[in-house]
Amino acid sequence: TPGRATAVAHPNIALVKYWGKRDEKLVLPRTDSLSMTLDIFPTTTTVRLAPRAGQDTVTFNGRPATGEALRRIVAFLDLVRDRAGSSERAVVDTENTVPTGAGLASSASGFAALAAAAAAAYGLGLDATELSRLARRGSGSASRSVFGGFAVWHAGSGTPEEADLGSYAEPVPAAARDLDPALVIAVVDAGPKAVSSREAMRRTVDTSPLFEPWAVSSKDDLTQMRAALLAGDLEAVGEIAERNALGMHATMLAARPAVRYLAPATLRVLDSVLQLRRDGLLAYVTMDAGPNVKVLCRRVDVERVAAVVRGAAAGGAVHIARPGPGTRLLNA
Ligand code: DP6
Repeated sequence: TPGRATAVAHPNIALVKYWGKRDEKLVLPRTDSLSMTLDIFPTTTTVRLAPRAGQDTVTFNGRPATGEALRRIVAFLDLVRDRAGSSERAVVDTENTVPTGAGLASSASGFAALAAAAAAAYGLGLDATELSRLARRGSGSASRSVFGGFAVWHAGSGTPEEADLGSYAEPVPAAARDLDPALVIAVVDAGPKAVSSREAMRRTVDTSPLFEPWAVSSKDDLTQMRAALLAGDLEAVGEIAERNALGMHATMLAARPAVRYLAPATLRVLDSVLQLRRDGLLAYVTMDAGPNVKVLCRRVDVERVAAVVRGAAAGGAVHIARPGPGTRLLNA
């Protein structure tokens, strides 16, 4: 029933990264990106419309949201209200199981769940494409969490208004059974990040001489990634994902001043993955806006990979994920 809705969404990890915006207000990316939605760390969000005017109330895991987090959610709700022609305030309750601020994309599951719950509560009848476009406005990567499995987020083209219409995610055809991937997530540092990804992206686009070359090569990475997924070639998927992520970090290292998310423990995990490869296992890494490492491997190898990564992560938590479902509404 409109007026109240609950949605569940999962994080996604990009295999071809989104890094850099062409338009900050509309959250239009510079490049297409492609991700795998995970089956762990769901975010569950309930939106209830408040009868009286006043302010939105937002709680995260039972605690009132404040500052920048609250500002972003209220701005997002304003967008939904605008489309719905409503001035009703909302009460938002979010249960987030993602370790926040650790480069595990809590904003992706967070805004995907919020978009679905808010759209339903305010009575917007959105299809999946429209929902993805809406979630994008909260956080770019959230556009991809609307879909399960593998998803590609189109940058859109033309004027900002045209790109806004064309910038949404959709499922990517993949030979899922042949791929049978798993992701080992090594949390080497669960603390908040030194530089927000928003600020880091801005600085990279504005100052890094490596940004344009990476954006150009990312186009090839995307084409080859689609082919690898379709062919069920996990080795190629891993190889492309790893080079794309290392290239993205190179763009940041070349920014002025440099943005460096990779920590000593990150490199120890990277070394352990090279050793796994020398031992004949399929294992490739990807890293986001933080020091944590996600290792892509075959499901049958996941325990062996996790054991080696756990040793290298020296006390950090290790999580195992598989492809997960898209965003869905829960029946009231
Ligand atoms: C490194 O989606 O968090 O994880 O659009 O500014 O909210 P905003 O950024 P966000 O950036 C994610 C960047 C990344 C790569 C990726 O997920 O593609």
